[in-house]
Amino acid sequence: MIERMTSNELRKRFFEFFEERDHKIVDGSPLVPQRDPSLLFTSAGMVQFKSYYTGLVPLPYTRAASVQKCLRVSDLESVGKTVRHNTFFEMLGNFSFGDYFKKEGIEWAWEFLLEVLKIPVERLSVSIYEEDDEAYDLWHKHIGLNSSIIYRLGKEDNFWGPAGATGPCGPCSEIFYDMGEEFGCGKETCQPGCDCDRYFELWNLVFPQFEKTEKGQMIPLANRGIDTGMGMERLAVSMQGGNSIFDTDLFSPIIDEAVRALDVSYSKDKVAFNVIVDHIRALTFACAEGVIPSNEGRGYVLRRLLRRALRRGVFLGTEEPFLYRLVGTVTDVMKEPYPELVERREQVSLIIKSEEERFFRTLNQGLALFEEITSTGSGVISGDDAFRLYDTYGFPIDMTLEIAGERGLRVDLKEFEEKMAAQKERARAASRFQSADMGEGWEGLEGEEAEFVGYERISIQARIIGWRVSNGDVEMRLDKTPFYAEAGGQVGDTGRIYSDDFEVKVTNTIWTDHGVVHVGKLERGEVKGGTVTAEVDCERRKDIARNHTATHILQGVLRVVLGKHVRQEGSLVEPERLRFDFTHYNPLTRREIDRVEEMVNSKVRGNLSVVSVNTTYDEATKGMGAIALFGEKYGDDVRVMRVGDFSAELCGGTHLDATGEIGLFRIVSESAVAAGIRRIEAMTGRGAYEHMKKEEEVLSRVSDALGSTTEDLENKLQKLLQEQKILKKRVRQLESKLASAFAVKLVGKARLVEGIQVMASRVEFSDIVGLRQMADQARARVKGKCVGVFGSEIEGKAVFVAFVTDNLTNRLKAGDVAREVAKVTGGGGGGKPTLAEAGGKDVGKIDEAIGRVPQIVKDLLKSAR
Ligand code: SER
Repeated sequence: MIERMTSNELRKRFFEFFEERDHKIVDGSPLVPQRDPSLLFTSAGMVQFKSYYTGLVPLPYTRAASVQKCLRVSDLESVGKTVRHNTFFEMLGNFSFGDYFKKEGIEWAWEFLLEVLKIPVERLSVSIYEEDDEAYDLWHKHIGLNSSIIYRLGKEDNFWGPAGATGPCGPCSEIFYDMGEEFGCGKETCQPGCDCDRYFELWNLVFPQFEKTEKGQMIPLANRGIDTGMGMERLAVSMQGGNSIFDTDLFSPIIDEAVRALDVSYSKDKVAFNVIVDHIRALTFACAEGVIPSNEGRGYVLRRLLRRALRRGVFLGTEEPFLYRLVGTVTDVMKEPYPELVERREQVSLIIKSEEERFFRTLNQGLALFEEITSTGSGVISGDDAFRLYDTYGFPIDMTLEIAGERGLRVDLKEFEEKMAAQKERARAASRFQSADMGEGWEGLEGEEAEFVGYERISIQARIIGWRVSNGDVEMRLDKTPFYAEAGGQVGDTGRIYSDDFEVKVTNTIWTDHGVVHVGKLERGEVKGGTVTAEVDCERRKDIARNHTATHILQGVLRVVLGKHVRQEGSLVEPERLRFDFTHYNPLTRREIDRVEEMVNSKVRGNLSVVSVNTTYDEATKGMGAIALFGEKYGDDVRVMRVGDFSAELCGGTHLDATGEIGLFRIVSESAVAAGIRRIEAMTGRGAYEHMKKEEEVLSRVSDALGSTTEDLENKLQKLLQEQKILKKRVRQLESKLASAFAVKLVGKARLVEGIQVMASRVEFSDIVGLRQMADQARARVKGKCVGVFGSEIEGKAVFVAFVTDNLTNRLKAGDVAREVAKVTGGGGGGKPTLAEAGGKDVGKIDEAIGRVPQIVKDLLKSAR
């Protein structure tokens, strides 16, 4: 009988086991991979170790074990339906970099499952890569497994990786867990690897041997080794005897909470609940790291997950946000291994709630569009409409497909995908991201990471340790560099790298898996190895430093003015401006903005010294009280930037020596990023001065135009506004007189349609009051049955007023008439049976709409019969 173990216990046992075998226990990395542009989310435990296998960085240890939070949407459709699929999951893994290989990898995995966890051996079987005789012998001869439970499978199943487009990969051997016959498909062919619920892959033992380059080449890895991954949720099912991963201590409390929040029992629709609890875990973890639902990249993955989950909730009958109510339970379940969730609980639930509210708002609008499409009776949702639903109303395509399915509509997916591809192309063209890989075409490549000397120097002699040129675009690595590579919100440096032989204009500096790469254009000569001068654009660097130091002061000041809850959510430091996102619940008042700006400027005038201190993480955060960024992973040695005694932050950026160099600090905007997150944009030094000058110019141009001086501008403007008010009043009086005159004239011109007097006319008024008066007047004057419609262009829109005399409303309603007329101009409206107003956007069609009144009246009369 297996001893039931909680998931917290399982993580602990795993670490103990591998620590005893000399593994360094390493914290999992954030869900958002750092320095890995090829991945949206961390998808495996090995992601943070990629460069240890490729050997381009010195190895700090050769054995490691970790529990890694991962997010994959590749199995989205299966989540909730099968016993084993998740989007967010944890992976337990042990790793070897050029250290032990297959023998120990296999031995230890088996020992852990059988000896430590005591999983009955009858439950287990294994697969190997079909050509891997070494692995076969290890399982068969060394471990002693019967050959009938060793399955040789092809590349599809037993060759793993890379994670992302490039990186380590190799053959693998998987250990399967048998859920029991009752979970199976019953087919004769059912065996490990079958899609049904009986066998699942519990532990993947990968033997990374190759590095896949961008061009698809497989080159031998510098440090071949071991990379294993065991799904935490799957391990929990096997150790807790549940029916699926959702039947474990990782999910049960969240399901219970969802049952309470929705007030529907789990058995009503288990799949829907499973989807909900799976997705809310993914959302909670990703939002806690600062990812916010949006329309692109990571944010879009979150938006999609949230909307999928929310739609399940709507199916189950809810009409209001509920996912945010589950964040607390997710936090409680996961807080032992992930204590950082606790701090972020409130923030995360706010973000999720506001996204849920947004969804309910657009849901109704989007559903209205669905109605419209359905009413055309074509049975098809065009790709254009599907794209509009996606782009404007935020309907993920799978949701459109789902709703379409419910209504028996088909979606033109091909056209939709064309629209999407076109949009992606536009986004790509606009993207300023570049990612250098270490694939093809490099010359003189040596395996060292550049030493950064840019804190002290901006120009040095350096040696080239690799370069690549294509059509004049150059990528270059140096043994040491003064160039700062884009990181921590600070943009990369620009400048030049030159020698007697050539000159390269550096347009960006970026991090890759293999260290810093200088990206630029060849301006002169031909690149050759050897020694070069590397020179950073000094003025630009100074502008960046002003903005970076100012960002630190700003954070300190915000914590004084608004409170200690203020925490950095993101930042961008460029030469032109700085952008700082932070947690705070309300928009800043004018007074708060002024206070913040004034206080930062007073720190500038105070000319505080700015110094860096290298110390340990603990000393920095505990001893010095330095602010560390949430979700960022720091090493043991850190750099603290201190601004006088006022601010201390962990930071790798480049800064000023003293705050006085900032010169001037101006806030140029304050806005919302998401619920509970505000954004300040500001300028310093030259930028701030130029911005001020521009404002001054606008002011003086406005004064000139008004024939005033800047001092007298306010008076002058007040006077003009007063005059305008008086003029408006006069216009209205005149229009009111006109309205009566027109009405009299039009009554005489009414035309008979089926015995009813119909009057329709376009009359220009400055606002709707005139139109209304006219309708009232006309109605008062006509005798007999009458309907009238008057249209006008008002403030760029088509506006209509319709009336129907009391003796006619049993056959014709003013609301219907107004709505049908406004439709011609692409709008709608309604109102009472006797008087109604409507509007549309297309002012060019007002005359046409008026002209159609008699026909519209005829049609309405006919349908009323
Ligand atoms: N990298 C492998 C996987 O993700 C094993 O850790 O399955």
